[in-house]
Amino acid sequence: MSQDRSYDESLKLYRKAIDLIPGGSQTNSKRPTAFALGAFPIYAQDAEGARVQDVDGNWYIDYVLGLGPITLGYCYPAVDEAIREQLDRGITYGLLSPLEVEVAEQITEMIPCAEMMRFLKGGAEVTQAAARMARTFTGKPMILNSGYRGWADTWRAQGAGIEGGVPEPLGDLIDGWTRYDLDSLAAKLEEHAGQVAMVALDPASGGDTVPAEYHEGVRELCDDHDALLMYDEIVTGFRMAAGGGQEYFGVTPDLACFAKGIANGMPLGVVCGRADVMSTAFDETVISVTYGGEALSLAAARATMRIYANEPVIDSIWDTGRTLTQGFERLAERHDVPLKCHGYAPMSSQTIDYENPELSADVWTLLLQEMARRGVLLRRGGLLFITYSHGDEEIEETLSALDESLAVIAEAVDRDTVKDHLRVTEVEESFRSFA
Ligand SMILES: Cc1ncc(COP(=O)(O)O)c(C=O)c1O
Repeated sequence: MSQDRSYDESLKLYRKAIDLIPGGSQTNSKRPTAFALGAFPIYAQDAEGARVQDVDGNWYIDYVLGLGPITLGYCYPAVDEAIREQLDRGITYGLLSPLEVEVAEQITEMIPCAEMMRFLKGGAEVTQAAARMARTFTGKPMILNSGYRGWADTWRAQGAGIEGGVPEPLGDLIDGWTRYDLDSLAAKLEEHAGQVAMVALDPASGGDTVPAEYHEGVRELCDDHDALLMYDEIVTGFRMAAGGGQEYFGVTPDLACFAKGIANGMPLGVVCGRADVMSTAFDETVISVTYGGEALSLAAARATMRIYANEPVIDSIWDTGRTLTQGFERLAERHDVPLKCHGYAPMSSQTIDYENPELSADVWTLLLQEMARRGVLLRRGGLLFITYSHGDEEIEETLSALDESLAVIAEAVDRDTVKDHLRVTEVEESFRSFA
Protein backbone atom coordinates (compact mmCIF):
# COMPACT_ATOMS: atom_id res chain seq x y z
CA MET A 1 0.00 0.00 0.00
CA SER A 2 2.94 2.30 0.59
CA GLN A 3 4.02 4.45 -2.28
CA ASP A 4 6.53 7.20 -2.64
CA ARG A 5 4.65 10.40 -3.11
CA SER A 6 6.08 13.62 -4.38
CA TYR A 7 5.47 16.77 -2.36
CA ASP A 8 7.40 18.97 -4.83
CA GLU A 9 4.52 21.28 -5.81
CA SER A 10 3.60 21.77 -2.16
CA LEU A 11 7.18 22.66 -1.25
CA LYS A 12 7.52 25.02 -4.21
CA LEU A 13 4.48 26.99 -3.02
CA TYR A 14 5.61 26.93 0.59
CA ARG A 15 8.98 28.39 -0.31
CA LYS A 16 7.12 31.37 -1.81
CA ALA A 17 4.66 31.53 1.08
CA ILE A 18 7.16 32.12 3.84
CA ASP A 19 8.31 35.33 2.16
CA LEU A 20 4.73 36.55 1.81
CA ILE A 21 2.83 35.19 4.79
CA PRO A 22 4.32 35.34 8.31
CA GLY A 23 4.62 31.78 9.57
CA GLY A 24 3.68 30.58 6.07
CA SER A 25 0.07 29.91 7.13
CA GLN A 26 -3.04 31.76 8.34
CA THR A 27 -3.52 29.31 11.22
CA ASN A 28 -0.79 28.41 13.70
CA SER A 29 -1.93 24.81 13.99
CA LYS A 30 -1.86 24.37 10.20
CA ARG A 31 1.79 25.39 9.90
CA PRO A 32 3.61 22.77 7.85
CA THR A 33 6.33 22.69 10.51
CA ALA A 34 3.72 21.28 12.91
CA PHE A 35 3.43 18.13 10.76
CA ALA A 36 6.41 16.52 8.98
CA LEU A 37 7.77 19.14 6.62
CA GLY A 38 9.19 17.60 3.48
CA ALA A 39 7.47 14.27 4.12
CA PHE A 40 3.86 15.41 4.30
CA PRO A 41 1.59 17.33 1.92
CA ILE A 42 1.20 21.08 2.47
CA TYR A 43 -1.34 22.50 0.00
CA ALA A 44 -4.73 21.00 -0.91
CA GLN A 45 -6.44 21.55 -4.23
CA ASP A 46 -9.48 19.28 -4.08
CA ALA A 47 -11.55 17.27 -1.65
CA GLU A 48 -14.53 14.97 -1.54
CA GLY A 49 -16.20 13.08 1.30
CA ALA A 50 -13.52 11.91 3.73
CA ARG A 51 -10.68 12.58 1.29
CA VAL A 52 -8.48 15.48 0.26
CA GLN A 53 -6.11 15.87 -2.69
CA ASP A 54 -2.82 17.78 -2.49
CA VAL A 55 -1.39 19.99 -5.23
CA ASP A 56 0.91 17.13 -6.31
CA GLY A 57 -2.18 15.09 -7.18
CA ASN A 58 -2.05 12.65 -4.23
CA TRP A 59 -5.30 11.71 -2.46
CA TYR A 60 -5.55 11.08 1.30
CA ILE A 61 -8.12 10.05 3.89
CA ASP A 62 -8.24 13.16 6.06
CA TYR A 63 -8.49 13.27 9.86
CA VAL A 64 -7.33 16.89 10.18
CA LEU A 65 -10.43 18.21 8.40
CA GLY A 66 -9.69 21.91 8.55
CA LEU A 67 -9.08 21.52 12.32
CA GLY A 68 -12.70 20.64 12.95
CA PRO A 69 -15.22 22.50 10.79
CA ILE A 70 -15.87 19.66 8.34
CA THR A 71 -18.27 17.31 10.12
CA LEU A 72 -20.42 15.90 7.30
CA GLY A 73 -17.60 15.49 4.78
CA TYR A 74 -16.07 17.59 2.02
CA CYS A 75 -18.40 18.76 -0.75
CA TYR A 76 -21.36 17.22 1.03
CA PRO A 77 -24.00 17.37 -1.72
CA ALA A 78 -26.97 18.81 0.19
CA VAL A 79 -24.82 21.54 1.76
CA ASP A 80 -23.03 22.44 -1.45
CA GLU A 81 -26.33 22.61 -3.33
CA ALA A 82 -27.68 24.98 -0.69
CA ILE A 83 -24.60 27.20 -1.07
CA ARG A 84 -24.91 27.20 -4.90
CA GLU A 85 -28.59 28.00 -4.75
CA GLN A 86 -27.95 30.94 -2.43
CA LEU A 87 -25.00 32.07 -4.58
CA ASP A 88 -27.44 32.63 -7.42
CA ARG A 89 -29.45 34.94 -5.14
CA GLY A 90 -26.64 37.04 -3.65
CA ILE A 91 -24.07 36.76 -0.87
CA THR A 92 -24.55 39.74 1.46
CA TYR A 93 -27.29 42.36 1.27
CA GLY A 94 -27.90 45.74 2.84
CA LEU A 95 -31.27 44.25 3.68
CA LEU A 96 -31.42 41.37 6.10
CA SER A 97 -31.58 37.76 4.96
CA PRO A 98 -34.59 35.60 5.91
CA LEU A 99 -31.99 32.91 6.60
CA GLU A 100 -30.96 34.82 9.74
CA VAL A 101 -34.38 34.08 11.22
CA GLU A 102 -34.65 30.53 9.92
CA VAL A 103 -31.21 29.50 11.15
CA ALA A 104 -31.81 31.16 14.51
CA GLU A 105 -35.02 29.14 14.91
CA GLN A 106 -33.20 25.92 14.02
CA ILE A 107 -30.51 26.67 16.59
CA THR A 108 -33.04 27.29 19.37
CA GLU A 109 -34.47 23.85 18.58
CA MET A 110 -31.07 22.15 18.62
CA ILE A 111 -29.00 23.88 21.32
CA PRO A 112 -30.39 23.73 24.89
CA CYS A 113 -29.16 27.16 26.09
CA ALA A 114 -29.95 29.05 22.88
CA GLU A 115 -32.88 31.39 23.51
CA MET A 116 -31.31 34.21 21.47
CA MET A 117 -28.16 34.46 19.36
CA ARG A 118 -25.99 36.58 17.11
CA PHE A 119 -24.07 35.39 14.08
CA LEU A 120 -20.42 36.30 13.70
CA LYS A 121 -17.57 34.50 11.94
CA GLY A 122 -14.64 32.86 13.76
CA GLY A 123 -14.11 31.43 17.21
CA ALA A 124 -12.16 34.41 18.55
CA GLU A 125 -15.03 36.70 17.54
CA VAL A 126 -17.75 34.75 19.30
CA THR A 127 -15.78 34.14 22.49
CA GLN A 128 -14.82 37.84 22.60
CA ALA A 129 -18.51 38.72 22.15
CA ALA A 130 -19.45 36.41 25.03
CA ALA A 131 -16.90 38.11 27.29
CA ARG A 132 -18.17 41.57 26.32
CA MET A 133 -21.79 40.52 26.93
CA ALA A 134 -21.04 38.94 30.30
CA ARG A 135 -19.20 42.05 31.49
CA THR A 136 -21.99 44.28 30.24
CA PHE A 137 -24.80 42.20 31.77
CA THR A 138 -23.19 41.64 35.17
CA GLY A 139 -21.32 44.94 35.45
CA LYS A 140 -18.30 42.95 36.68
CA PRO A 141 -14.83 42.97 35.10
CA MET A 142 -13.19 39.58 35.79
CA ILE A 143 -13.26 36.46 33.69
CA LEU A 144 -12.16 33.02 34.85
CA ASN A 145 -11.13 30.92 31.90
CA SER A 146 -9.73 27.46 31.30
CA GLY A 147 -8.46 26.74 27.76
CA TYR A 148 -7.84 28.38 24.38
CA ARG A 149 -10.50 30.83 23.18
CA GLY A 150 -8.73 32.47 20.25
CA TRP A 151 -6.37 35.36 19.70
CA ALA A 152 -8.49 38.29 20.99
CA ASP A 153 -6.89 40.49 23.69
CA THR A 154 -9.41 39.42 26.34
CA TRP A 155 -7.94 35.95 26.53
CA ARG A 156 -4.31 37.11 26.64
CA ALA A 157 -3.71 34.18 24.29
CA GLN A 158 -4.36 31.80 27.21
CA GLY A 159 -3.58 28.33 26.01
CA ALA A 160 -1.37 29.52 23.15
CA GLY A 161 1.39 30.49 25.58
CA ILE A 162 2.52 33.72 23.91
CA GLU A 163 1.20 37.14 24.81
CA GLY A 164 3.16 39.69 22.79
CA GLY A 165 1.25 42.89 22.05
CA VAL A 166 -1.41 42.33 24.72
CA PRO A 167 -1.20 45.13 27.32
CA GLU A 168 -0.08 43.77 30.67
CA PRO A 169 -2.98 45.33 32.68
CA LEU A 170 -5.46 43.16 30.76
CA GLY A 171 -3.93 40.25 32.64
CA ASP A 172 -5.53 41.61 35.83
CA LEU A 173 -8.97 40.96 34.33
CA ILE A 174 -8.54 37.28 33.58
CA ASP A 175 -7.54 34.35 35.72
CA GLY A 176 -7.65 30.57 35.49
CA TRP A 177 -8.09 27.59 37.81
CA THR A 178 -6.81 24.04 37.93
CA ARG A 179 -8.83 22.17 35.35
CA TYR A 180 -11.41 19.72 36.77
CA ASP A 181 -10.65 20.87 40.32
CA LEU A 182 -13.83 22.35 41.78
CA ASP A 183 -12.01 23.44 44.97
CA SER A 184 -9.59 25.41 42.85
CA LEU A 185 -12.45 27.11 40.97
CA ALA A 186 -14.22 27.84 44.27
CA ALA A 187 -11.03 29.39 45.64
CA LYS A 188 -10.66 31.63 42.58
CA LEU A 189 -14.27 32.73 42.83
CA GLU A 190 -13.62 33.63 46.48
CA GLU A 191 -10.35 35.39 45.66
CA HIS A 192 -12.17 37.57 43.13
CA ALA A 193 -15.43 37.73 45.12
CA GLY A 194 -18.04 40.00 43.56
CA GLN A 195 -15.83 40.63 40.53
CA VAL A 196 -16.36 37.60 38.27
CA ALA A 197 -18.61 38.21 35.26
CA MET A 198 -18.11 34.85 33.57
CA VAL A 199 -16.56 31.43 33.96
CA ALA A 200 -15.53 30.07 30.55
CA LEU A 201 -14.59 26.50 29.72
CA ASP A 202 -14.78 23.79 27.06
CA PRO A 203 -17.38 21.15 28.00
CA ALA A 204 -14.66 18.67 27.00
CA SER A 205 -11.29 19.10 25.41
CA GLY A 206 -9.18 16.61 23.53
CA GLY A 207 -7.48 13.98 25.58
CA ASP A 208 -9.44 14.38 28.77
CA THR A 209 -12.41 12.50 30.11
CA VAL A 210 -14.39 14.92 32.25
CA PRO A 211 -14.87 13.71 35.84
CA ALA A 212 -18.45 12.84 36.83
CA GLU A 213 -20.33 15.70 38.48
CA TYR A 214 -17.76 18.29 37.32
CA HIS A 215 -20.12 20.27 35.15
CA GLU A 216 -22.89 20.24 37.75
CA GLY A 217 -20.34 21.48 40.29
CA VAL A 218 -19.20 24.34 38.05
CA ARG A 219 -22.82 25.29 37.37
CA GLU A 220 -23.54 25.47 41.12
CA LEU A 221 -20.44 27.51 41.86
CA CYS A 222 -21.34 30.00 39.11
CA ASP A 223 -24.87 30.33 40.50
CA ASP A 224 -23.54 30.78 44.06
CA HIS A 225 -21.28 33.61 42.87
CA ASP A 226 -23.65 35.25 40.37
CA ALA A 227 -21.19 34.57 37.57
CA LEU A 228 -22.37 33.60 34.11
CA LEU A 229 -21.27 30.18 32.82
CA MET A 230 -20.06 30.11 29.22
CA TYR A 231 -19.36 26.93 27.28
CA ASP A 232 -16.97 27.19 24.36
CA GLU A 233 -18.50 24.54 22.09
CA ILE A 234 -16.24 25.30 19.15
CA VAL A 235 -14.88 21.73 19.20
CA THR A 236 -17.66 19.90 21.08
CA GLY A 237 -20.56 21.48 19.16
CA PHE A 238 -22.12 19.38 16.39
CA ARG A 239 -19.68 16.62 17.36
CA MET A 240 -20.33 15.18 20.87
CA ALA A 241 -24.07 15.63 20.36
CA ALA A 242 -26.26 17.67 18.01
CA GLY A 243 -26.77 20.03 20.95
CA GLY A 244 -23.07 20.03 21.83
CA GLY A 245 -21.38 19.26 25.13
CA GLN A 246 -24.28 20.87 27.01
CA GLU A 247 -26.64 18.20 25.65
CA TYR A 248 -24.07 15.43 26.19
CA PHE A 249 -23.38 16.37 29.83
CA GLY A 250 -26.92 17.55 30.58
CA VAL A 251 -25.89 20.91 32.03
CA THR A 252 -27.12 24.18 30.53
CA PRO A 253 -24.76 27.16 30.49
CA ASP A 254 -25.89 30.80 30.35
CA LEU A 255 -23.96 31.46 27.14
CA ALA A 256 -22.33 29.28 24.50
CA CYS A 257 -20.10 29.78 21.48
CA PHE A 258 -20.04 27.71 18.28
CA ALA A 259 -17.77 28.26 15.28
CA LYS A 260 -16.90 24.89 13.76
CA GLY A 261 -19.13 22.14 12.52
CA ILE A 262 -22.28 24.20 12.25
CA ALA A 263 -21.89 24.98 8.53
CA ASN A 264 -19.66 22.10 7.34
CA GLY A 265 -16.69 24.36 6.67
CA MET A 266 -18.33 27.68 5.84
CA PRO A 267 -17.29 30.47 8.24
CA LEU A 268 -20.09 30.92 10.75
CA GLY A 269 -19.75 31.66 14.45
CA VAL A 270 -22.70 31.72 16.84
CA VAL A 271 -22.81 33.27 20.27
CA CYS A 272 -26.05 32.25 21.96
CA GLY A 273 -27.66 31.96 25.34
CA ARG A 274 -30.18 33.33 27.80
CA ALA A 275 -32.54 35.89 26.29
CA ASP A 276 -32.18 38.30 29.24
CA VAL A 277 -28.39 38.29 29.01
CA MET A 278 -28.30 38.59 25.23
CA SER A 279 -30.93 41.31 24.89
CA THR A 280 -29.66 43.44 27.79
CA ALA A 281 -26.04 43.20 26.68
CA PHE A 282 -26.81 44.09 23.09
CA ASP A 283 -28.74 47.17 24.28
CA GLU A 284 -25.75 48.41 26.22
CA THR A 285 -22.70 47.60 24.14
CA VAL A 286 -21.64 47.36 20.52
CA ILE A 287 -21.12 43.98 18.93
CA SER A 288 -21.67 44.47 15.24
CA VAL A 289 -20.06 43.07 12.10
CA THR A 290 -20.66 43.54 8.39
CA TYR A 291 -20.67 39.86 7.55
CA GLY A 292 -22.87 38.44 10.34
CA GLY A 293 -25.80 37.90 7.97
CA GLU A 294 -23.67 36.60 5.08
CA ALA A 295 -26.07 34.27 3.37
CA LEU A 296 -23.85 31.53 1.90
CA SER A 297 -22.73 30.44 5.38
CA LEU A 298 -26.26 30.66 6.72
CA ALA A 299 -27.57 28.57 3.81
CA ALA A 300 -24.86 26.01 4.57
CA ALA A 301 -25.78 26.03 8.26
CA ARG A 302 -29.47 25.51 7.49
CA ALA A 303 -28.69 22.53 5.26
CA THR A 304 -26.16 21.11 7.76
CA MET A 305 -28.55 21.31 10.70
CA ARG A 306 -31.34 19.68 8.68
CA ILE A 307 -29.06 16.72 8.10
CA TYR A 308 -28.18 16.58 11.80
CA ALA A 309 -31.89 16.65 12.63
CA ASN A 310 -32.85 13.88 10.18
CA GLU A 311 -29.89 11.53 9.96
CA PRO A 312 -27.74 9.64 12.48
CA VAL A 313 -24.72 11.92 12.05
CA ILE A 314 -23.70 11.90 15.70
CA ASP A 315 -24.11 8.13 16.13
CA SER A 316 -22.05 7.57 13.02
CA ILE A 317 -19.23 9.87 14.16
CA TRP A 318 -19.14 8.15 17.56
CA ASP A 319 -19.16 4.66 15.99
CA THR A 320 -16.40 5.49 13.53
CA GLY A 321 -14.38 7.12 16.31
CA ARG A 322 -14.75 4.10 18.57
CA THR A 323 -13.78 1.64 15.83
CA LEU A 324 -10.74 3.72 14.94
CA THR A 325 -9.49 4.31 18.47
CA GLN A 326 -9.98 0.64 19.37
CA GLY A 327 -8.15 -0.31 16.17
CA PHE A 328 -5.30 2.12 16.95
CA GLU A 329 -4.83 0.64 20.42
CA ARG A 330 -5.08 -2.96 19.19
CA LEU A 331 -2.44 -2.38 16.50
CA ALA A 332 -0.21 -0.41 18.87
CA GLU A 333 -0.26 -3.33 21.27
CA ARG A 334 0.43 -5.81 18.48
CA HIS A 335 3.50 -3.85 17.38
CA ASP A 336 4.48 -2.91 20.92
CA VAL A 337 4.44 0.83 20.14
CA PRO A 338 3.32 3.00 23.10
CA LEU A 339 0.59 4.77 21.11
CA LYS A 340 -2.55 5.49 23.12
CA CYS A 341 -5.88 7.18 22.44
CA HIS A 342 -7.53 9.45 25.00
CA GLY A 343 -10.74 11.39 25.49
CA TYR A 344 -13.97 11.08 23.55
CA ALA A 345 -14.21 9.01 20.37
CA PRO A 346 -15.44 11.80 18.02
CA MET A 347 -12.47 14.00 19.01
CA SER A 348 -9.83 11.76 20.56
CA SER A 349 -6.22 12.70 21.11
CA GLN A 350 -3.23 10.39 20.77
CA THR A 351 0.02 10.12 22.70
CA ILE A 352 3.22 8.26 21.91
CA ASP A 353 5.23 7.91 25.09
CA TYR A 354 8.67 6.33 25.08
CA GLU A 355 10.87 7.02 28.09
CA ASN A 356 13.00 9.26 25.89
CA PRO A 357 10.93 12.34 24.85
CA GLU A 358 13.12 12.95 21.79
CA LEU A 359 12.36 9.44 20.56
CA SER A 360 8.63 10.05 21.12
CA ALA A 361 8.81 13.26 19.05
CA ASP A 362 10.74 11.52 16.25
CA VAL A 363 8.32 8.60 16.22
CA TRP A 364 5.42 11.05 15.86
CA THR A 365 7.14 12.57 12.84
CA LEU A 366 7.78 9.10 11.44
CA LEU A 367 4.15 8.13 12.01
CA LEU A 368 2.89 11.24 10.18
CA GLN A 369 5.36 10.55 7.35
CA GLU A 370 4.55 6.84 7.00
CA MET A 371 0.78 7.38 7.22
CA ALA A 372 0.95 10.14 4.57
CA ARG A 373 2.97 7.78 2.33
CA ARG A 374 0.10 5.34 2.66
CA GLY A 375 -2.56 7.98 2.00
CA VAL A 376 -3.74 8.98 5.49
CA LEU A 377 -3.39 12.41 7.13
CA LEU A 378 -3.11 12.50 10.91
CA ARG A 379 -2.24 15.36 13.21
CA ARG A 380 0.54 15.18 15.81
CA GLY A 381 -1.25 14.35 19.06
CA GLY A 382 -4.74 14.49 17.48
CA LEU A 383 -7.43 15.56 17.66
CA LEU A 384 -8.54 12.72 15.45
CA PHE A 385 -11.53 14.36 13.77
CA ILE A 386 -14.10 12.28 11.90
CA THR A 387 -16.92 13.09 9.50
CA TYR A 388 -20.22 11.47 8.60
CA SER A 389 -18.52 10.54 5.29
CA HIS A 390 -15.85 8.37 6.93
CA GLY A 391 -17.17 4.85 6.35
CA ASP A 392 -16.02 1.23 6.54
CA GLU A 393 -13.73 1.62 3.54
CA GLU A 394 -11.89 4.54 5.12
CA ILE A 395 -11.61 2.76 8.46
CA GLU A 396 -10.19 -0.34 6.79
CA GLU A 397 -7.67 1.65 4.72
CA THR A 398 -6.64 3.70 7.75
CA LEU A 399 -6.06 0.69 9.98
CA SER A 400 -4.19 -1.13 7.25
CA ALA A 401 -1.94 1.94 6.76
CA LEU A 402 -1.43 2.11 10.51
CA ASP A 403 -0.53 -1.59 10.68
CA GLU A 404 2.21 -1.08 8.09
CA SER A 405 3.39 2.22 9.60
CA LEU A 406 3.65 0.77 13.10
CA ALA A 407 5.63 -2.17 11.71
CA VAL A 408 8.14 0.32 10.23
CA ILE A 409 8.23 2.21 13.53
CA ALA A 410 8.64 -0.91 15.69
CA GLU A 411 11.56 -2.14 13.61
CA ALA A 412 13.18 1.31 13.50
CA VAL A 413 12.90 1.70 17.27
CA ASP A 414 14.26 -1.80 17.75
CA ARG A 415 17.28 -1.10 15.57
CA ASP A 416 17.70 2.45 16.79
CA THR A 417 17.26 3.77 13.23
CA VAL A 418 14.25 6.08 13.65
CA LYS A 419 16.19 9.20 12.61
CA ASP A 420 17.55 7.39 9.54
CA HIS A 421 13.99 6.71 8.39
CA LEU A 422 12.89 10.34 8.62
CA ARG A 423 12.74 12.20 5.36
CA VAL A 424 12.80 15.21 7.65
CA THR A 425 15.09 15.11 10.61
CA GLU A 426 15.17 18.71 11.84
CA VAL A 427 11.78 20.00 10.75
CA GLU A 428 12.60 23.75 10.77
CA GLU A 429 16.15 23.24 9.54
CA SER A 430 15.16 20.99 6.68
CA PHE A 431 12.84 23.69 5.43
CA ARG A 432 15.69 26.22 5.49
CA SER A 433 17.76 23.91 3.34
CA PHE A 434 15.07 24.15 0.66
CA ALA A 435 15.07 27.96 0.74
C1 LIG B 1 -12.13 25.59 21.71
C2 LIG B 1 -11.71 26.70 20.78
N1 LIG B 1 -12.08 27.96 21.05
C3 LIG B 1 -11.74 28.98 20.24
C4 LIG B 1 -10.99 28.76 19.10
C5 LIG B 1 -10.63 29.92 18.21
O1 LIG B 1 -11.33 29.81 17.02
P1 LIG B 1 -10.84 30.61 15.70
O2 LIG B 1 -9.53 30.02 15.31
O3 LIG B 1 -11.93 30.37 14.69
O4 LIG B 1 -10.73 32.05 16.09
C6 LIG B 1 -10.58 27.47 18.79
C7 LIG B 1 -9.76 27.23 17.60
O5 LIG B 1 -9.29 26.17 17.31
C8 LIG B 1 -10.94 26.41 19.65
O6 LIG B 1 -10.58 25.15 19.38
